[in-house]
Amino acid sequence: MRAWLLRLPGHLPIPARRALTEAVTLARMQSPSLNRKSTILFDTDPGIDDAMALLFALRSPEIEVAGVTTVFGNSSVEATTRNALNLLDVAGRPDIPVAAGAGRPLINPPIETAEIVHGADGMGNIGWTQVNNPAHRPLQIHAAQFIVETVMRRPGEITLVAVGPLTNLALALQLEPRIAQHVREVVIMGGSVLAMGNVSPLAEANVHSDPHAAARVFGADWALTMAGLDVTQAVQMDAQYFARLAASGDPFGEFVARIVPFYQDFHRAWYGYTNGAVDTHDPSAIAYLIDPTLFTGHHWSVVAPTDGPAAGATIADRRGKFYTTPKTHCLMTVDAARLLDLYAERLTAQGR
Ligand code: BDR
Ligand code: CA
Repeated sequence: MRAWLLRLPGHLPIPARRALTEAVTLARMQSPSLNRKSTILFDTDPGIDDAMALLFALRSPEIEVAGVTTVFGNSSVEATTRNALNLLDVAGRPDIPVAAGAGRPLINPPIETAEIVHGADGMGNIGWTQVNNPAHRPLQIHAAQFIVETVMRRPGEITLVAVGPLTNLALALQLEPRIAQHVREVVIMGGSVLAMGNVSPLAEANVHSDPHAAARVFGADWALTMAGLDVTQAVQMDAQYFARLAASGDPFGEFVARIVPFYQDFHRAWYGYTNGAVDTHDPSAIAYLIDPTLFTGHHWSVVAPTDGPAAGATIADRRGKFYTTPKTHCLMTVDAARLLDLYAERLTAQGR
């Protein structure tokens, strides 16, 4: 397997591209030497765990964040955009462009946002009601257009990482279907193969928030990896872990420790978790890009139903006999201890 294969040439016929997609993800998992730096657009609804993921990416030499695009979800798109701008200021990276995107699902009515999980400000009630640096503004371009322009300008180079509802990705595909051949890969936090849902018996929140968008994303012929609840609920950070971040003297670690108490309260009340534990959702997508050997997975066709009791669920054809749609690389197991070490190492690296 040669590194140039990671570019997934768009001119190949579809079956060849599918075979390459599978070969590439397998090779990345088996051969870390192929894991060259990922240049990402981070599509997000910050969100406490979104913030945790963004800081993780910004601290990782394996990742270059080329832009942040925002979407409704944990809060309104106005709030998630404000939070993205403020987070980049906290991180000392106001140079990274932010483009605001969808404020509602493609077809379904607007959703009830998740203030109960992430706080009234979407950031654990730390009082973010405005953009802290008024000079820091989003681009005058919709997130979907920004995605299209960035991907088409740099064919084969851009990885889309989506950790909120998939509306911006679906809109980008609609604007320019050729982005499917020109992205390097797509990694989402969302969905579930075997784990129970977290917003319905079957559905995970990001997919459920816009199932029509998810159906388009799973139906597109691109190199898609899904970090779903099967792996994100298998890694938990607890009170002791956050105490270590808080005491690190690293502003990133300290910031995570500051925003997380509201999230811990939610996990205690909703799931009955003890020890201040929270699931590691959005950071898992970043962890996969940094070190795919943390995970094992399978390539299965995934269908996202848009109505009925399974609306917003993700059904994987594990027998490989029923669906012919493009295959998604579904992450199924994770080395939790190694992932936690990696995250703590990065978020405490600049301690005093
Ligand atoms: C997902 O839902 C959101 O609340 C989190 O930010 C994460 O992206 C987990 O289901
Ligand atoms: Ca999120």
